[in-house]
Amino acid sequence: MMRAKYIPAAGAAVAMLLLAGCRQDMHDQPKFFPQRGTTFYADGRSVRPQVADTVAREQLHEDSYFYTGMIAGKEGDGLPLALTPELMARGQERYNVYCTACHSRVGNGDGMIVQRGYKPAGNFHTDRLRNAPLGHFFAVMTNGYGAMPDYSAQLTPADRWAVAAYVRALQLSQDAKPSDAGSATAQNLETIATKQGLPASYADPMKFPGTAVWANPKTQEDMTTPVSPMGKPAAAPATEKQPEAPAAGPKAASTNP
Ligand code: HEC
Repeated sequence: MMRAKYIPAAGAAVAMLLLAGCRQDMHDQPKFFPQRGTTFYADGRSVRPQVADTVAREQLHEDSYFYTGMIAGKEGDGLPLALTPELMARGQERYNVYCTACHSRVGNGDGMIVQRGYKPAGNFHTDRLRNAPLGHFFAVMTNGYGAMPDYSAQLTPADRWAVAAYVRALQLSQDAKPSDAGSATAQNLETIATKQGLPASYADPMKFPGTAVWANPKTQEDMTTPVSPMGKPAAAPATEKQPEAPAAGPKAASTNP
Protein backbone atom coordinates (compact mmCIF):
# COMPACT_ATOMS: atom_id res chain seq x y z
CA MET A 1 0.00 0.00 0.00
CA MET A 2 2.65 2.41 1.09
CA ARG A 3 4.77 1.63 -1.99
CA ALA A 4 2.01 2.34 -4.50
CA LYS A 5 1.93 5.91 -3.17
CA TYR A 6 5.48 6.52 -4.41
CA ILE A 7 5.15 4.94 -7.85
CA PRO A 8 3.71 8.00 -9.66
CA ALA A 9 6.32 10.29 -8.11
CA ALA A 10 9.17 7.99 -9.05
CA GLY A 11 7.74 7.65 -12.54
CA ALA A 12 7.66 11.45 -12.93
CA ALA A 13 11.27 11.73 -11.76
CA VAL A 14 12.44 9.13 -14.26
CA ALA A 15 10.49 10.84 -17.04
CA MET A 16 12.10 14.20 -16.15
CA LEU A 17 15.57 12.68 -16.21
CA LEU A 18 14.91 11.06 -19.56
CA LEU A 19 13.56 14.32 -21.01
CA ALA A 20 16.54 16.27 -19.67
CA GLY A 21 18.80 13.73 -21.31
CA CYS A 22 17.19 14.52 -24.65
CA ARG A 23 18.23 18.21 -24.63
CA GLN A 24 20.63 18.74 -27.50
CA ASP A 25 20.93 22.50 -27.51
CA MET A 26 23.78 24.92 -26.89
CA HIS A 27 24.48 23.38 -23.50
CA ASP A 28 26.27 20.54 -25.17
CA GLN A 29 28.32 22.21 -27.85
CA PRO A 30 32.09 22.16 -27.47
CA LYS A 31 33.16 25.52 -26.07
CA PHE A 32 35.67 27.19 -23.78
CA PHE A 33 34.65 28.30 -20.32
CA PRO A 34 35.98 31.72 -19.28
CA GLN A 35 39.14 31.52 -17.17
CA ARG A 36 39.32 27.74 -17.56
CA GLY A 37 42.15 25.90 -19.25
CA THR A 38 41.93 23.68 -22.28
CA THR A 39 43.84 20.79 -23.74
CA PHE A 40 43.14 22.06 -27.24
CA TYR A 41 46.01 24.56 -27.39
CA ALA A 42 49.56 23.60 -26.56
CA ASP A 43 49.88 26.41 -23.98
CA GLY A 44 46.71 25.24 -22.21
CA ARG A 45 45.10 28.71 -22.37
CA SER A 46 41.53 29.01 -23.60
CA VAL A 47 41.74 32.84 -23.62
CA ARG A 48 43.89 33.56 -26.64
CA PRO A 49 46.38 36.44 -26.83
CA GLN A 50 46.17 38.87 -29.78
CA VAL A 51 47.92 37.56 -32.83
CA ALA A 52 51.30 39.27 -33.17
CA ASP A 53 51.64 41.96 -35.88
CA THR A 54 47.92 42.28 -36.42
CA VAL A 55 45.54 45.14 -35.60
CA ALA A 56 41.99 44.51 -34.54
CA ARG A 57 39.20 46.19 -36.44
CA GLU A 58 38.59 49.79 -35.15
CA GLN A 59 41.95 49.77 -33.37
CA LEU A 60 44.07 51.11 -36.16
CA HIS A 61 44.82 54.65 -34.97
CA GLU A 62 46.64 55.94 -37.99
CA ASP A 63 45.89 59.60 -37.26
CA SER A 64 47.98 59.83 -34.14
CA TYR A 65 47.38 63.58 -33.63
CA PHE A 66 43.65 62.94 -33.39
CA TYR A 67 44.25 60.24 -30.76
CA THR A 68 47.10 61.78 -28.76
CA GLY A 69 47.19 65.53 -29.38
CA MET A 70 50.92 65.08 -29.94
CA ILE A 71 53.06 65.68 -33.01
CA ALA A 72 56.55 64.19 -32.91
CA GLY A 73 56.46 63.92 -29.13
CA LYS A 74 55.29 67.53 -28.60
CA GLU A 75 51.81 68.88 -27.96
CA GLY A 76 50.47 70.06 -31.30
CA ASP A 77 48.19 72.97 -32.07
CA GLY A 78 45.07 72.97 -34.21
CA LEU A 79 41.78 71.13 -34.25
CA PRO A 80 41.80 67.84 -36.18
CA LEU A 81 38.03 68.12 -36.71
CA ALA A 82 35.86 70.62 -38.56
CA LEU A 83 34.98 73.55 -36.28
CA THR A 84 31.19 73.72 -36.44
CA PRO A 85 28.48 75.13 -34.18
CA GLU A 86 27.50 71.51 -33.42
CA LEU A 87 31.04 70.70 -32.26
CA MET A 88 31.08 73.76 -29.98
CA ALA A 89 27.66 72.90 -28.56
CA ARG A 90 28.83 69.34 -27.89
CA GLY A 91 32.00 70.67 -26.26
CA GLN A 92 30.02 73.03 -24.05
CA GLU A 93 27.64 70.28 -23.01
CA ARG A 94 30.42 67.79 -22.21
CA TYR A 95 32.47 70.49 -20.46
CA ASN A 96 29.52 71.38 -18.27
CA VAL A 97 29.01 67.71 -17.41
CA TYR A 98 32.59 66.65 -16.72
CA CYS A 99 34.73 69.68 -15.96
CA THR A 100 32.64 72.30 -14.15
CA ALA A 101 32.60 70.42 -10.84
CA CYS A 102 36.25 71.44 -10.43
CA HIS A 103 36.93 74.13 -13.03
CA SER A 104 33.56 76.01 -12.76
CA ARG A 105 31.44 77.06 -15.69
CA VAL A 106 33.76 79.94 -16.50
CA GLY A 107 36.90 77.84 -16.19
CA ASN A 108 38.56 79.72 -13.33
CA GLY A 109 39.29 76.51 -11.43
CA ASP A 110 36.97 77.35 -8.55
CA GLY A 111 34.24 74.78 -9.03
CA MET A 112 32.07 73.45 -6.22
CA ILE A 113 34.40 70.56 -5.39
CA VAL A 114 37.34 72.96 -5.08
CA GLN A 115 35.24 75.28 -2.90
CA ARG A 116 34.76 72.29 -0.62
CA GLY A 117 38.43 71.53 -0.28
CA TYR A 118 39.70 69.81 -3.44
CA LYS A 119 43.06 70.94 -4.74
CA PRO A 120 42.55 74.17 -6.74
CA ALA A 121 41.94 73.12 -10.32
CA GLY A 122 43.68 74.87 -13.16
CA ASN A 123 42.49 78.36 -14.01
CA PHE A 124 42.25 78.54 -17.81
CA HIS A 125 42.56 82.34 -17.81
CA THR A 126 46.28 82.64 -17.29
CA ASP A 127 48.76 83.73 -19.96
CA ARG A 128 50.39 80.30 -19.88
CA LEU A 129 47.18 78.44 -20.62
CA ARG A 130 45.88 81.08 -23.05
CA ASN A 131 49.03 80.47 -25.07
CA ALA A 132 49.05 76.70 -24.60
CA PRO A 133 48.51 74.75 -27.82
CA LEU A 134 45.14 73.06 -28.23
CA GLY A 135 46.83 69.67 -28.02
CA HIS A 136 47.73 70.49 -24.39
CA PHE A 137 44.07 70.47 -23.35
CA PHE A 138 43.51 67.26 -25.26
CA ALA A 139 46.54 65.65 -23.59
CA VAL A 140 45.44 66.79 -20.10
CA MET A 141 42.03 65.18 -20.62
CA THR A 142 43.62 62.04 -22.10
CA ASN A 143 46.34 61.47 -19.50
CA GLY A 144 45.28 63.50 -16.47
CA TYR A 145 47.50 66.22 -14.99
CA GLY A 146 48.90 66.28 -11.46
CA ALA A 147 45.94 65.99 -9.09
CA MET A 148 43.49 65.84 -11.99
CA PRO A 149 42.32 62.39 -13.08
CA ASP A 150 42.14 61.57 -16.77
CA TYR A 151 38.86 61.69 -18.66
CA SER A 152 39.69 59.27 -21.46
CA ALA A 153 37.10 56.75 -20.29
CA GLN A 154 34.32 59.34 -20.08
CA LEU A 155 35.12 61.30 -23.25
CA THR A 156 35.81 59.83 -26.70
CA PRO A 157 38.71 61.45 -28.60
CA ALA A 158 36.21 63.46 -30.67
CA ASP A 159 34.51 64.70 -27.48
CA ARG A 160 37.87 65.63 -25.97
CA TRP A 161 38.60 67.79 -29.00
CA ALA A 162 35.13 69.34 -28.73
CA VAL A 163 35.80 70.19 -25.07
CA ALA A 164 39.25 71.57 -25.94
CA ALA A 165 37.65 73.84 -28.56
CA TYR A 166 35.08 75.00 -26.03
CA VAL A 167 37.76 75.73 -23.41
CA ARG A 168 39.51 77.91 -26.01
CA ALA A 169 36.22 79.75 -26.59
CA LEU A 170 35.88 80.26 -22.82
CA GLN A 171 39.38 81.72 -22.74
CA LEU A 172 38.54 84.14 -25.55
CA SER A 173 35.22 85.12 -23.98
CA GLN A 174 36.76 85.91 -20.59
CA ASP A 175 39.55 87.94 -22.12
CA ALA A 176 37.58 89.90 -24.70
CA LYS A 177 38.60 93.47 -25.53
CA PRO A 178 36.30 96.19 -26.96
CA SER A 179 38.22 95.89 -30.24
CA ASP A 180 36.99 92.28 -30.53
CA ALA A 181 33.52 93.68 -31.18
CA GLY A 182 34.77 94.82 -34.58
CA SER A 183 32.71 97.61 -36.11
CA ALA A 184 30.06 97.47 -33.37
CA THR A 185 30.59 100.49 -31.11
CA ALA A 186 30.77 99.97 -27.38
CA GLN A 187 28.32 102.10 -25.42
CA ASN A 188 28.45 102.73 -21.74
CA LEU A 189 25.62 101.68 -19.48
CA GLU A 190 24.66 105.28 -18.53
CA THR A 191 24.03 106.12 -22.19
CA ILE A 192 21.97 102.98 -22.66
CA ALA A 193 19.96 103.71 -19.51
CA THR A 194 19.19 107.28 -20.64
CA LYS A 195 18.34 106.18 -24.19
CA GLN A 196 16.03 103.43 -23.10
CA GLY A 197 14.45 105.38 -20.25
CA LEU A 198 15.75 102.96 -17.62
CA PRO A 199 16.39 104.06 -14.02
CA ALA A 200 19.90 105.47 -13.47
CA SER A 201 20.61 102.58 -11.08
CA TYR A 202 20.80 100.39 -14.18
CA ALA A 203 24.37 101.54 -14.59
CA ASP A 204 25.34 100.87 -10.96
CA PRO A 205 27.99 98.26 -10.28
CA MET A 206 26.39 94.85 -10.11
CA LYS A 207 25.82 93.29 -6.72
CA PHE A 208 26.95 89.71 -6.41
CA PRO A 209 25.93 87.18 -3.80
CA GLY A 210 28.63 86.27 -1.29
CA THR A 211 29.27 82.97 -3.02
CA ALA A 212 30.10 84.60 -6.38
CA VAL A 213 33.61 84.22 -7.76
CA TRP A 214 35.35 86.45 -10.24
CA ALA A 215 35.93 84.71 -13.54
CA ASN A 216 39.30 86.20 -14.26
CA PRO A 217 41.27 86.56 -11.05
CA LYS A 218 44.84 87.80 -11.05
CA THR A 219 45.86 85.19 -8.49
CA GLN A 220 44.41 82.06 -7.00
CA GLU A 221 43.70 84.00 -3.73
CA ASP A 222 41.78 86.65 -5.65
CA MET A 223 39.39 84.05 -6.81
CA THR A 224 37.07 84.24 -3.86
CA THR A 225 36.98 88.05 -3.73
CA PRO A 226 34.06 89.08 -5.88
CA VAL A 227 34.79 92.10 -8.02
CA SER A 228 32.12 93.84 -10.00
CA PRO A 229 32.55 94.08 -13.76
CA MET A 230 32.90 97.85 -13.25
CA GLY A 231 36.19 97.25 -11.52
CA LYS A 232 35.02 98.27 -8.06
CA PRO A 233 34.95 95.63 -5.36
CA ALA A 234 31.46 94.33 -4.76
CA ALA A 235 29.93 94.11 -1.31
CA ALA A 236 32.11 92.24 1.16
CA PRO A 237 31.65 88.49 0.97
CA ALA A 238 28.76 87.46 3.15
CA THR A 239 29.49 85.68 6.40
CA GLU A 240 28.13 82.25 7.03
CA LYS A 241 25.64 83.54 9.56
CA GLN A 242 24.06 86.11 7.31
CA PRO A 243 24.27 85.30 3.65
CA GLU A 244 23.77 88.39 1.57
CA ALA A 245 20.40 88.37 -0.08
CA PRO A 246 20.18 89.49 -3.69
CA ALA A 247 18.70 93.00 -3.88
CA ALA A 248 15.56 92.11 -5.81
CA GLY A 249 14.18 90.06 -8.60
CA PRO A 250 14.99 86.47 -9.36
CA LYS A 251 17.97 84.76 -7.78
CA ALA A 252 21.05 86.82 -8.62
CA ALA A 253 23.22 85.07 -11.16
CA SER A 254 26.39 83.61 -9.76
CA THR A 255 29.34 82.67 -11.89
CA ASN A 256 29.40 79.30 -10.18
CA PRO A 257 27.91 76.25 -11.84
C1 HEC B 1 38.03 66.33 -9.93
C2 HEC B 1 38.34 67.68 -10.29
C3 HEC B 1 38.66 67.97 -11.73
C4 HEC B 1 37.89 67.74 -12.83
C5 HEC B 1 36.50 67.14 -12.87
C6 HEC B 1 38.62 68.25 -13.95
N1 HEC B 1 39.81 68.79 -13.55
FE1 HEC B 1 41.17 69.71 -14.71
N2 HEC B 1 42.34 70.05 -13.09
C7 HEC B 1 42.03 69.65 -11.80
C8 HEC B 1 43.13 70.01 -10.92
C9 HEC B 1 43.17 69.76 -9.42
C10 HEC B 1 44.11 70.62 -11.73
C11 HEC B 1 45.46 71.12 -11.28
C12 HEC B 1 46.37 69.94 -11.25
C13 HEC B 1 47.70 70.20 -10.65
O1 HEC B 1 48.24 71.29 -10.85
O2 HEC B 1 48.18 69.28 -9.96
C14 HEC B 1 43.57 70.63 -13.08
C15 HEC B 1 44.23 71.18 -14.17
C16 HEC B 1 43.70 71.27 -15.43
C17 HEC B 1 44.33 71.95 -16.55
C18 HEC B 1 45.60 72.76 -16.47
C19 HEC B 1 46.81 72.00 -16.86
C20 HEC B 1 48.02 72.91 -16.79
O3 HEC B 1 48.79 72.94 -17.76
O4 HEC B 1 48.20 73.61 -15.77
C21 HEC B 1 43.51 71.81 -17.63
C22 HEC B 1 43.73 72.36 -19.02
C23 HEC B 1 42.37 71.03 -17.20
N3 HEC B 1 42.51 70.71 -15.87
C24 HEC B 1 41.32 70.69 -18.02
C25 HEC B 1 40.20 69.96 -17.58
C26 HEC B 1 39.10 69.59 -18.44
C27 HEC B 1 38.96 69.99 -19.89
C28 HEC B 1 38.23 68.88 -17.68
C29 HEC B 1 36.95 68.20 -18.11
C30 HEC B 1 37.11 67.14 -19.05
C31 HEC B 1 38.77 68.82 -16.33
N4 HEC B 1 39.97 69.48 -16.32
C32 HEC B 1 38.16 68.19 -15.27
C33 HEC B 1 40.89 69.04 -11.37
C34 HEC B 1 39.87 68.63 -12.20
